[in-house]
Amino acid sequence: MTSNSNLQTKACCADLYQSDLARMLLGNSLHPGGLRLTNRLGRLMGLSHGDWVVDLATGRGASASAIARSFHCSVVGIEYGREAAVEARQLALDAPVPADSWFIQGDAEMPPLKPESFDAVFAECSLSVFPNKELAVAQAAALLKPGGRLAISDVTVEPGFLPEELDNSLGQLLCVTGALGVDGYAELLSHAGLVNIYREDASFHVSELLAKIKGALAAFSALACVLDDQGQDGIFGDLSPETDWNGLIEKLEQLVSAGRLGYWLYVAEKPGNGN
Ligand SMILES: C[S@@+](CC[C@H](N)C(=O)[O-])C[C@H]1O[C@@H](n2cnc3c(N)ncnc32)[C@H](O)[C@@H]1O
Repeated sequence: MTSNSNLQTKACCADLYQSDLARMLLGNSLHPGGLRLTNRLGRLMGLSHGDWVVDLATGRGASASAIARSFHCSVVGIEYGREAAVEARQLALDAPVPADSWFIQGDAEMPPLKPESFDAVFAECSLSVFPNKELAVAQAAALLKPGGRLAISDVTVEPGFLPEELDNSLGQLLCVTGALGVDGYAELLSHAGLVNIYREDASFHVSELLAKIKGALAAFSALACVLDDQGQDGIFGDLSPETDWNGLIEKLEQLVSAGRLGYWLYVAEKPGNGN
């Protein structure tokens, strides 16, 4: 893939996640398990008071602020989408108890931050959408101090099991289009020179999210029909109101039950502190 098409992919992806459709289907926490799973990732990273942490592809910053509050860390969120980064800043400022969090617009594959300065870096439901996953992991590892931890939580799809109906915005929105198999993320961490790789199955949260999306899609279909009757279209991109949503969600639920589709957490360590 050329670097121009990579830039286009990132811009389209950022636009999609900033869209009303994403807000309607997912809310502000754009991954399965929401902030409950974010806090689990924080515990697995062993975060403690005063740590400096990076949230790669932070979206509207919900996880970055939650980590800062729960673990009393300083968190820098990087997000490609300009509107999302601006909104993340505003949401953090408007919070009743402001967290120690900053948000910058930037590319996770070239983070504009000082190398070897952070205790931990995490990326939730993000590596699956990056065009150059190897580069993103190498850059994330470079940000860590020796002994620092890199955590990933992401959608897993075993190769060959992506339903063809998901070759569209919904597939991208669900992070399935570019997702790796369960071993794929661990291999990325290992190739970046990280050690002590731990993994945990959190696929139960995909079923939970599918149930939530099922309700939202029913509302979407009803709204799309009304807009269609009024001669308005286009606001839902390439998603057709005629799609058999229930059939598709059922298919995805079966893939989760069969272990072909899931959501996994990974934590690895940068060598250098006696390991
Ligand atoms: C599924 S959302 C996850 C957002 C957030 N991590 C969360 O869990 O709530 C993926 C995010 O990655 C962002 N993104 C995609 N490519 C990026 C890149 N190269 N650099 C930074 N952010 C990127 C998108 O704009 C989107 O906000």
